[in-house]
Amino acid sequence: MEFQNSLEFAQQLDAVDPLRKYRDEFHFPKVKGKDVIYFTGNSLGLEPKRTQKFVNDVMNDWKNLAVEGHFHAEKSWWDYHERLAAPLAKVVGAKPEEVSVMNTLTVNLHMLMVSFYRPNEKRFKIICEEKAFPSDQYMLKSQVKFHGLDPDKAIVEVKKRPGEDFWHTQDVLDIINEVGDELALVLIGGVNYYNGQVFDMESITKSAKEQGAFVGWDLAHGVGNVALKLHDWGVDFAAWCSYKYMNSGPGNASGIFVHEQYLNRSDIPRFEGWWGTKKETRFLMKPEFEPMANADAWQVSNPPVLSLAPYLASLEMFDEVGMEALIAKRKLIVSYLEFILQEIDKETDGSFEIITPEDRGCQLSVFLHGHGKDLFNYLMENGVITDWREPNVIRLAPAPFYCSFADMYNFGQVLKSGIQSKG
Ligand SMILES: Cc1ncc(COP(=O)(O)O)c(C=O)c1O
Repeated sequence: MEFQNSLEFAQQLDAVDPLRKYRDEFHFPKVKGKDVIYFTGNSLGLEPKRTQKFVNDVMNDWKNLAVEGHFHAEKSWWDYHERLAAPLAKVVGAKPEEVSVMNTLTVNLHMLMVSFYRPNEKRFKIICEEKAFPSDQYMLKSQVKFHGLDPDKAIVEVKKRPGEDFWHTQDVLDIINEVGDELALVLIGGVNYYNGQVFDMESITKSAKEQGAFVGWDLAHGVGNVALKLHDWGVDFAAWCSYKYMNSGPGNASGIFVHEQYLNRSDIPRFEGWWGTKKETRFLMKPEFEPMANADAWQVSNPPVLSLAPYLASLEMFDEVGMEALIAKRKLIVSYLEFILQEIDKETDGSFEIITPEDRGCQLSVFLHGHGKDLFNYLMENGVITDWREPNVIRLAPAPFYCSFADMYNFGQVLKSGIQSKG
């Protein structure tokens, strides 16, 4: 499609956008009385309007039923989490029994490491990406130390090539082969938080499995953003948060995936709690732990219903729309944003460099050569919410649920005036 940098053209794209009615389903913050142009759905997604009702329902059930809400609320609390598994499984390409929701992301990665990082003298190394999200680095190092090992020896980082801003799949595959039978685990952020790169999860998983290693993915930036086929790819485990593209609220609960081959097995080590034991016998309060036959076996505590309510509201919307439609719009709107950036760059000699490679999802990370944080601040003051990453990268993620093509055009105009006003 031949794009144009004009409001009319952007509005034409909006007029034929099959998702256009969903924009109205979200609350937008305002700056100077106007809805913002929101590019930070990769950090915290906007609040869906329908979420309030889901939360209110729980609050009302609590008010009216108190403890009886566990079993007699319209959406009973004791099994509230079960309602999330089927729609969430569709988002990540899993079977419903392979998915559960619990805890928060880093906690879940730790919990899953208990099951899937079991180093021995020979096989103890972990491959991850260079400069992984800091929480993942801390998590991996502390797990390695917990096993009495030295992180400098156990953790192998895949580096970017000198002068480049992205990882080559071939480099990941080569390192997997080099580490060979010392490889215990590959754990990578499936979509990188900094440059927005989507890793080739299928081939990396296949190659690590051929070496006899476990493979896990941190999908904080992948879930609700890119096409995932966790089951078919043979991924062992994955975890993600729900507050970015999943629009479920700040710090909210995390999803996990455990491949079906590990379900219903009592030989897999886990940190266990009462909500992981079989629901049929849970309330007999027996001393023996009998794992649930699904990923709920990794649940420790009873479900945090007030956190799950917004997640369920959001999943209802994902189910209505489907990942295919979201991905189709995401591809188009990201391409349009890229075009707008290139046009403004030409008009202003803005010296932007998009460091996100072709393998991308919703996010474009843009290096602002010659511009400092004052440009970012100008955008914020003028109703464009982006985020800033040192040394001078802004991340732009036009979430397909609620961003419009007109937003992209209008952003370009604000950017242009920002550059011009900074001289
Ligand atoms: C890639 C990635 N991993 C892990 C985390 C940590 O998430 P949490 O604080 O929910 O544990 C984040 C948070 O933004 C993230 O982006």
